[in-house]
Amino acid sequence: MMPMKARWLLVPGLLLASGLVLVQHSMQAAAEGGSHVAASFQDEPNKPPDEDPASPAEFLWQRPDPSLIRDEPLQVTVPKGLPPLTPKTVVPLGNPITKGKYELGRLLYFDPRVSLDGTVSCATCHNPDKGWSDGGKVSTGIDGQRGNRNAPTVFNTAYGKNMFWDGRSPSLEGQAQGPMINPIEMGEQKHEVIVKRIRQIPAYRETFRKVFGTDVTLDGMAKAIATFERVAALSGNSKYDQYVTGDLKAMNESEKRGMVLFGIRPDPDDEYEPTVELQKAKCTLCHAGANFTDEEFHNLGVGWNEAKKKHDDIGRWAPEPIGQKDDLSLGAFKTPTVRNAVLTAPYMHDGSLKTLEEVMDHYNKGGNPNPSLDEDMKPLKLTSEEIADVIAFMKALTGEVKTTAELLPKALPPGPDGKSPDPVAALTAPGA
Ligand code: HEC
Ligand code: HEC
Repeated sequence: MMPMKARWLLVPGLLLASGLVLVQHSMQAAAEGGSHVAASFQDEPNKPPDEDPASPAEFLWQRPDPSLIRDEPLQVTVPKGLPPLTPKTVVPLGNPITKGKYELGRLLYFDPRVSLDGTVSCATCHNPDKGWSDGGKVSTGIDGQRGNRNAPTVFNTAYGKNMFWDGRSPSLEGQAQGPMINPIEMGEQKHEVIVKRIRQIPAYRETFRKVFGTDVTLDGMAKAIATFERVAALSGNSKYDQYVTGDLKAMNESEKRGMVLFGIRPDPDDEYEPTVELQKAKCTLCHAGANFTDEEFHNLGVGWNEAKKKHDDIGRWAPEPIGQKDDLSLGAFKTPTVRNAVLTAPYMHDGSLKTLEEVMDHYNKGGNPNPSLDEDMKPLKLTSEEIADVIAFMKALTGEVKTTAELLPKALPPGPDGKSPDPVAALTAPGA
């Protein structure tokens, strides 16, 4: 078997039921420039609402009436190569995966009525058919406004430890609340207003009672959306997964050379003799474990502005609390998965690299020199054949994926006027 980095197995569980944690979403903060980002996050990165946390407002959370609940656990078959959805370490104990919750999350994920003017849904920027992203360099939100970070994929975020490029949210549940109130994503609105708008839709109220034993709440919306993402965006059973689970012919020689350069030893039962140096490309120093990420933050020099001698986006440094600020976090971003990389172009937090060839050029030259450059970023001296092999290996990491057509609800529940929006219209960004 291949060596899995021990750290992957030791990753602690996601924070429990953080449905009440409010997190500011990115695009606005990033758009307003580095210093503002720092000012808004540094004191309290996950600032709770201005409420008494022991008895939150009723639109945030309600005590469930268990006698109303009509729901059952959803058995999920995890694709080959991915770890099980273990409670506590992968799925928060406060948010078990159920059938009703998954279906509710699916509706909310594709429903543009979560946005202020009914034009933007989560799927506008995280469209399953576009690698759970939007294909753009940076995202376009409400009124055609642009941010300056690339929409990361939702693929396998079930296993993620920190959400956002700078890791400022600890869970999918916490993350989902950010875009809803981000002025350039789903619009400048209060969570209370969104919850009250969703309460106008009778079928949602009924479903919330069956799933949570409560009326529509932000806590329930976040939990349902997170459950949908956790299950629907799982992607494995790539050629590589077939190889590591015993089908030694699933990858060709170029893909195997790429795997070895990337940093993974061939299966001991495989007769293939590597002709390249193990880990020459150093990729597993950061892209390790079942989801090919160490869940850490590194500076590769992407977005370093040599003329101004500063980072266009300060990244991880912004949400680090005072007393824990680390200069090396300036311009550092979360290591993304490289599973399905062929589906998620363009690349990096700013979408600045268009192809996997450009990504490889960046690594081969050792990144862009800057004061916080990760110590593992060194010129690699890969030959053009070796580069082609690493890219072939990344392509062998393309897994089975669910299509938008499979996931899109047939119809969204009708509003008070009896009409329901077309979820397909929201797959196109406003003004695009
Ligand atoms: C206008 C485009 C846009 C919309 C709408 C949007 N997002 Fe995002 N999403 C982004 C961008 C850009 C980021 C990265 C921001 C950052 O890192 O600061 C992001 C980050 C994320 C992440 C973190 C992934 C990771 O690996 O860190 C998840 C999960 C996510 N969004 C889910 C959602 C959900 C759920 C919704 C709907 C409630 C939503 N997004 C709405 C653009 C969007
Ligand atoms: C020092 C840690 C580190 C090493 C070594 C490393 N990566 Fe990365 N990788 C990252 C980080 C961090 C990012 C995001 C950087 C950013 O956006 O500024 C990233 C981004 C990527 C992306 C873009 C993914 C996306 O969705 O945007 C690809 C593809 C990738 N790396 C492949 C590789 C390959 C192939 C190698 C080996 C040649 C490698 N990486 C080596 C940390 C690393």
